Formats: sequence, structure tokens, C-alpha cells
Amino acid sequence: MHEPAILPEPRLLVRAPGATTLGPATTIACSPGAEHVASLVRALLSPATGFPLADRPSRAPRASAGASDQIADSHPLDASGCDVVLELEPSLARLGPEGYRLVVDADAVRLAAAGVAGLRNAAQTLRQLLDPAIFRRAAVRGADWAIPHVVVEDSPRFPWRGAHLDVSRHFMPAHFLYRFVDLLALHKLNVLHLHLTDDQGWRFPSAAYPRLTEVGSWRAESMRGHAREGRFDGTPHGGSYSRAELVDLVAYAGERNVTVVPEIDLPGHTQAAIAAYPFLGNLADELGVWTRWGVSEHVLNVEDAALDFCRTLLGELLDVFPGRYVHVGGDECPKSEWRASASVQRRIAALGLAGEDALQGWFTAELGAFLAGAGRSLVGWDEILEGGNLPAGATVMSWRGTSGGRTAARAGFDVVMCPEAPCYFDHYQSDDPREPLAIHGCNTLADVYAYEPVPADLESDAAGHVLGSQLQLWTEYLPEPADVEYMAFPRAAALAEVTWSGPGRDLARFTDRLGSHLARLDELGVNYRPLAGPQPWQEGGTGVRKRH
Ligand code: ACM
Repeated sequence: MHEPAILPEPRLLVRAPGATTLGPATTIACSPGAEHVASLVRALLSPATGFPLADRPSRAPRASAGASDQIADSHPLDASGCDVVLELEPSLARLGPEGYRLVVDADAVRLAAAGVAGLRNAAQTLRQLLDPAIFRRAAVRGADWAIPHVVVEDSPRFPWRGAHLDVSRHFMPAHFLYRFVDLLALHKLNVLHLHLTDDQGWRFPSAAYPRLTEVGSWRAESMRGHAREGRFDGTPHGGSYSRAELVDLVAYAGERNVTVVPEIDLPGHTQAAIAAYPFLGNLADELGVWTRWGVSEHVLNVEDAALDFCRTLLGELLDVFPGRYVHVGGDECPKSEWRASASVQRRIAALGLAGEDALQGWFTAELGAFLAGAGRSLVGWDEILEGGNLPAGATVMSWRGTSGGRTAARAGFDVVMCPEAPCYFDHYQSDDPREPLAIHGCNTLADVYAYEPVPADLESDAAGHVLGSQLQLWTEYLPEPADVEYMAFPRAAALAEVTWSGPGRDLARFTDRLGSHLARLDELGVNYRPLAGPQPWQEGGTGVRKRH
């Protein structure tokens, strides 16, 4: 039996002698409200064990007993296994909305939390207490499903533990998004930030503007090698999601404690939208979906029709993504077209604004007002600070270092710290020349592990506005899901521990546990970067790199 190697490391884990073994007769019992976490527990444990983990047949409540007494009521254990008990326990509110307690002893495997989010986290910990074979997809013959006796009490340091994925530069099929959600949940990462649109491809389906995907989701070709080489592959690339795929993704992720935060990048990074609907642009010329990597000069105009487009589109987005946070981009909006456009200059004058940066501030505020009216909160990259006029309740993602995050937090705005160093996972993982082609930079596993999301000089009021951190996976150089996995793991395991376990963490302990954890990723067939460096199948540029 494996000794516990939980990742991210729990706040408290006490190992007791002994173990309890799951068997074919193991059942699941739930207190009221906890029932629908049972299906997650089954989804995590049934495939590899082959055990049905059926509901424990309900017994008549005792006249004087409350629900929790009923659960605690002793009952004969089946000789071939224990019971898994899921309990909602209000007193565990002291562990916060995502905290949980997990007790494995001779009687039962008890998962308890004040809310279902905590129970879901407990289920992920429980899975990690079992042999790595638990990550197999079909019944494993002869496996030992012993669970060491433990008491775990756990809760996260930060509420925002995110992963950003760019599905525009390279389209990632929906089935990979489900797998990616599973992998985030395994690491107790709880936000999937989906970058759905950019100059090079539009992935979000719109009923009002169907050409966004009919036209905007395909580009004629992609760059090959590094962008500075100026080479192209001559092969069309594209794809978009159906509404049903995204609705299902949101629900699937929600059951795993992952919130999907959608991003429609506005008003820059919009060449694909302008290619589909030329009325959105500033020039008379027709544009194609961009085939180069970088930042297109072509951006939205600010006519009423373009603003109406944005509001209609965001309305459709809100229908699909029910979460509080909606990301409207705001990064890297070149102003050359705005400077040259008579109608944009008239708009600036009519609004009495100081210039193009202030115009972007006004534009962001318009989007913020629309979202606030719908009960949602705007999120943007740190450029949204530049125009002033940041809408109340906005959240800033600090990517160009931490100064945007500091400024925003000091001004009372929530921030997510995701500076390029070390949170951009499209950067190299080492200076080993065998590393696959990446954009530039180097963020090693140790760099990520050493990251502290709250800058040391931030006053405590401002520090309270740091919601957490997230990793960024821009996909110019990651054409396939296997490439995304290579760059994501194991660095995501490090960021998971940064955001969950907090400042008391220790690299040597992490590295120890990571060895056991990689065995889990092996069972899942994750194309992670081996700790020893890139292997022959991973050398030399982009492309699918299979490990098995
Ligand atoms: C960004 O990397 N342009 C947010």
C-alpha cells in the first residue's frame, strides 16, 4: 500500500495505523444535499475498481434523530469492504467554502464539508490515497484498493486557482477540454479561463452573428517554426464549439468544482471578427483571419453598431456561461487605426476624452456596465487600468509583471496575479536544447514552485484583494493537446500547491510527492515533461509527441 502523497499538500494530514479496503459491496451513503457528489465519487472510483459503489439502501430514520445522527448510526459493514459516507456538516464552515475533512478508519471512509465544493475536493484527495491504478479507465484485475487510515483537514489559501487555455491560436477539441478539466480538478485548480477568440480564430458560436464561426473560425494557414522565421505551412486550420458542447463543459466542470471563465478579447485581438463582419473594423479593406502570430493592428471601431455587437455577443455568452466572472480581454490594443480614423476621433471629441487610451477606458466601462446590469463581473488583462474609468467590481489580471496587480489592489480592485514570470506556461521549461520549440523565456518547475502571488510590499488591505493566481497556456506553439499537456505538467502541479497550500510549502517535500503524483499522470497518459528533461519523442519543435 502507498503512503499518502497528496498533491496539493493538505493543511493537515495525520496518518494512523491500518488501512481500509474498498470492495465490491462497498456502498455510498449521503446526508441530505450531498447526494449529487456521489456521482462524482463513482466517476472517480468505479471505472478502475469495477465496483458499482451503489447507494446504501436507506433505513427508516429514528424518530428523534437528525440527518447526521442517521448517517453516524452504526450498521454492519460488509466483509468485503467499507462504506463511503458523504456528509454536509455545517460546523465545517470554519474551513471555508472549499474546505473539507476526510477521515478513513476501520468504520468507514467519511468525507465531510460544509458545502458540496468541499466534498468534491475531499473526493479528489480520497482518489489520491488509493493506488495510482485508480486512474485507469477500466477495471484493474488483482489491484489492492487499500486506503491508509488518515485524518485530513484541508482548505485552500486562495479562492482563484486558475488555468488559462488559448483555444484560438490552435483549436482544442471539446473532448480535450473535458480531459483538461479532469486534470485541473485532480490538482484542485478551480478556474478554467477559456480564451475563445483572437486575431487567428473565433471559437464561440453566435446565433446573432453566425459568420463569426462560419468565416472567423478558419484561417488559411499557420506559421511553422518560430514566428521570426516567417514561414507558413499552407494548411488551413480551424474549428469552433457548438453551444451544446460549451453548455455541457460548464456543467461537467461545475460538478468537478471548476468554474469556466470565458474570454471574448475586445477591442483588440479581433481580426477574426472583423474578417467575418467588416462593419466592425476601421478600414474599407476586407481582411482575412490573421495567419501570423503576434498582435494585429486591426481592432474594433467604436461606432454604436460595434458596441451593439459587443453587447449582443456578451448576452449570448452569458447564456452559456453562468458564472460570475466574464473576461473581456482588453490587452494589447494597438491604437494606430484609432489615431487615423476620423470617426474614432469624432467619438473621442464627443465624449470629451483625453485620447485613445481614455477611449479604451470608456469602451471597457461600457462593457462593465452591461455585465453589471446582468449581475456579472468584468475581468480584464492589466491594460484595462490604462484608460482610467475602471468599472467598480472589475477584476484585473496582472500579466505584465505585478505592477498592474499592485496598482489595482491598492485601488480596491480584486486581482489575479499571473505575471509572465513564472505564470506563462508557453515559455520554455529549461534551457535544455532538446526542449520543444516555445515562444521565448524560461519558467522552470522550481521557478513556479517558488512563486508568491502576494507581493511582499503589498499592504494587508491590498493583499486581501489578491484572489489568487493562474497559469497561462497560449497556443501559438502548441498545436495539439499533447503539446498543451507537455507545457502544463508538471508545472501546473507546482502552481496548484502555490495557490492551495500556501507559504509554508517546501520544494523537497513537493518533489518527493511529485514522484508519486507522476505515476498518476502516467496512468492517465498525460504527456507531461519528464523531470529528467525532454525525451527523444519530445525533441525538436512542435507536433504530437506520444509517450506510450
Ligand atoms: C497577454 O499575454 N496578451 C495577456
